[in-house]
Amino acid sequence: MIVIAGAAGNVGGKIAESLVAKGHRVRLIGRDRGKLAGLIARGAEAAVGDLGDSAFLTNAFRGADAVFVLIPPNVGADDFRAYQNRIGESIAAAVRNSGVQYVVNLSSQGAHLSKGTGPIVGLHDQEARLNSLPGINVLHLRPTYFMENLLMNIGLIRKMNIMGSAVRGDVRFAMIAARDIAAYAAERLVKRDFSGASAVDLLGQRDLSLNEAAAVIGKKLGRTDLTYVAFPYEDAEKGMTAMGLSADISRLYIEMSKALNEGLFAVNIPRTKENTTPTSIEKFADDFAAAFRASETGSRKIA
Ligand SMILES: NC(=O)c1ccc[n+]([C@@H]2O[C@H](COP(=O)([O-])OP(=O)(O)OC[C@H]3O[C@@H](n4cnc5c(N)ncnc54)[C@H](OP(=O)(O)O)[C@@H]3O)[C@@H](O)[C@H]2O)c1
Repeated sequence: MIVIAGAAGNVGGKIAESLVAKGHRVRLIGRDRGKLAGLIARGAEAAVGDLGDSAFLTNAFRGADAVFVLIPPNVGADDFRAYQNRIGESIAAAVRNSGVQYVVNLSSQGAHLSKGTGPIVGLHDQEARLNSLPGINVLHLRPTYFMENLLMNIGLIRKMNIMGSAVRGDVRFAMIAARDIAAYAAERLVKRDFSGASAVDLLGQRDLSLNEAAAVIGKKLGRTDLTYVAFPYEDAEKGMTAMGLSADISRLYIEMSKALNEGLFAVNIPRTKENTTPTSIEKFADDFAAAFRASETGSRKIA
């Protein structure tokens, strides 16, 4: 039995798809049974509850050969680090109390740093928290910037024909598709070939800049004039709070963008066969185009 937290999410959802398709016994954790219905219909179990509820989580982990865990983003949290600590402590207690031996933890590039990386500092702390559990085999996945982050530009493209964020357009860094993280995680959850505490970098197919990513996506959308714009930090922070993100997480996202701009993480990491994964930005651009078209149908429906 493999237990997957965040099973309705980017990475957990794809791990679940892959394991169910291969006939593995899986238990999915999420707060909304409806979002898991497709996988339940194909034989998955569901444990519906909150990751912050350690008693619930301990029961959900019981009997598992391995668990996949993460601290999901909560962009409404007034104190994001306190939120991360609460969920992180609940996960660690549930691992300890359930008797599970193998844990694959979704961490991040930059989690080796203890400050200056915004929300990633909470993942640094979570790695340490899980490493301190005696007798547990824990593998931390340290993926780079998700290509899925680019989907947040759909509204901007529609309104202004630009993509943008506080990250500079010309910095080349690693970008990865969530499906590659999921494929890697699924394999390690099944093989359980790790012992003690270890971490692995996952860097996607190649390094590229946001200018390059925008050009590939623009071409796929038939908008060859689509450009990427780096917003001043203050404007980007105000934009995030205007979109409903808490002031605290907006500030932390800016700190993370600065760290990326200054090359503190995900930049110039030596590539190996092990840390390089298959999905290219050109391939991801097909998914982007599909999401873009779906948003058009959605907006017409709303209109
Ligand atoms: N984006 C990046 O570039 C990047 C890069 C490196 C690492 N990361 C890390 O990756 C993680 C996010 O992974 P992801 O994108 O797969 O997450 P995601 O898509 O946001 O999925 C998380 C899922 O967890 C569930 N969830 C949220 N809060 C919950 C709670 N309190 N209790 C139970 N379930 C809850 C949600 O489903 P329900 O609402 O149905 O419960 C959601 O679908 C974060 O830790 C982030 O720091 C991200």
